[in-house]
Amino acid sequence: MTALSVSTSSAASLRADALVVGVAKGPKGIVLAPGAEAVNEAFEGKLAEVLGTLGATGAEGETVKVASPAGLKAALVLAVGLGEAAEDGYALETLRRAAGVAARTLAGVKKAALALPAESAEEVEAVALGALLGSYAFGAYKGNGNGKEPVGELVVLTVRKGSKDAKAAVERATAIGEEMNRARDLVNTAPNDLNPKSFAAIAQAAGKEHGLKVEVLDEKALTKGGFGGLLGVGNGSANPPRLVKVAYTHPKAKASLAFVGKGITYDSGGISLKPAGHNETMKCDMAGAAAVFAAVVAAKRLGLAVNVTAWLALAENMPSGSATRPGDVLRMYGGKTVEVLNTDAEGRLVLADAIVKAGEDNPDVIVDVATLTGAMVLALGTRTFGVMANNDELRENLHTLAGEVGEQSWPMPLPAELKKGMTDSTIADLANMGERMGGGLVAGLFLQEFVAEGIDWAHLDIAGPAFHESAPFGYTPKGGTASAVRTLVRFAEQTAANGKA
Ligand code: BES
Ligand code: MN
Ligand code: ZN
Repeated sequence: MTALSVSTSSAASLRADALVVGVAKGPKGIVLAPGAEAVNEAFEGKLAEVLGTLGATGAEGETVKVASPAGLKAALVLAVGLGEAAEDGYALETLRRAAGVAARTLAGVKKAALALPAESAEEVEAVALGALLGSYAFGAYKGNGNGKEPVGELVVLTVRKGSKDAKAAVERATAIGEEMNRARDLVNTAPNDLNPKSFAAIAQAAGKEHGLKVEVLDEKALTKGGFGGLLGVGNGSANPPRLVKVAYTHPKAKASLAFVGKGITYDSGGISLKPAGHNETMKCDMAGAAAVFAAVVAAKRLGLAVNVTAWLALAENMPSGSATRPGDVLRMYGGKTVEVLNTDAEGRLVLADAIVKAGEDNPDVIVDVATLTGAMVLALGTRTFGVMANNDELRENLHTLAGEVGEQSWPMPLPAELKKGMTDSTIADLANMGERMGGGLVAGLFLQEFVAEGIDWAHLDIAGPAFHESAPFGYTPKGGTASAVRTLVRFAEQTAANGKA
């Protein structure tokens, strides 16, 4: 994995293979971003001019390489575009993305130093996190020489005096970035390698490593406990389901959060089989479970004064002679019955069991995270997750926090009239499908039925942003993105700071 550090050395004297500077679109042509001063000096003040001649415009995401003059230890200078020049500081997300672009562009290089704007601790953290996320590559299955190694070492240069908080900022970025990359690894792992059992084993090993309490309910325990949702979804598969609880507790915690993740390690649709073209990427259907798992480990690594429990609802949705049929009725954990009209609406079934179970601990808030509906992708596109809640303040808060950490989200309603189709089942308490219109909201309304009275609950539908299929951008490569991890960690931080959720 890429090593990350921070230094107050001058860009000119630091030993590295490449130096990264920022350029932006000024009112009269391209301008250098803060951090580039020493590099510009080595170019005798002509760096912007040289870059302009090479075609740089300062557009966001653009990269231009130039050989170093004498006076710089590094052989190469990489200029990354930041978009419009900002007089009073660049947005943190602009810095994360620029650092990510640089780290991606420099794959194969041994050591690179980032001379990007990094004066405040927040800026240092943003550059560090973007670089760590941008250097990510999933190489588990690729043979040698089948791609460039990620950049080996990244140094964040800062003008920040008294480097103590700069160091702390890089440590925070490392904890969050490494856990996000862990979530990406889980999502990217092929579904013949990642199944409920192996995912549970990974959670147990990581729990041991970081000192978290991990409990696994296997198919026997699930049967005994009456977890009809998890069992009903998992019974078509040779890989039986699991419910995993990962608990982080802090002695000074005044509040507790439960994060519940959809963990369908493969979603074929079951008997309501998905058509070809719709299941090739369905290994990503456990991205919610990966996100809540990464978030609880990050909370522990950051030592946040809040209790966080992650619940991973793990199952594989497959068709077979033992699979749940459209028409079957499941008795869910807690006793409600559900008529399964479409076995491809499986996420809500495993989540319902886990939400009821999580509610028994009486957490202050439950947040579930799920690649739940294609309807949410149609509504919001592939980069924005939907936020629903049984409490307006909680919904707005999560949407705001997401924006603060650079995640795109949008508040969505839970209109009561959309419940009708689901409550119309002639033989069960609920059907797992209802109104076709507003399908993402219908799924949210289904989950709400399983939230215990008096508990605040939010639902993040990450079906769009969880898995990136088009060209890489910023710090986002193809494949798993670790969507929602930063929002959950930020929410845990806020809860710890306020002493209440
Ligand atoms: N895992 C899918 C949702 C999904 C779609 C995730 C695209 C990521 C990308 C989910 O289990 C599903 O199949 N949902 C159905 C529900 C329908 C049958 C009510 C859907 O959205 O079509
Ligand atoms: Mn499905
Ligand atoms: Zn699914």
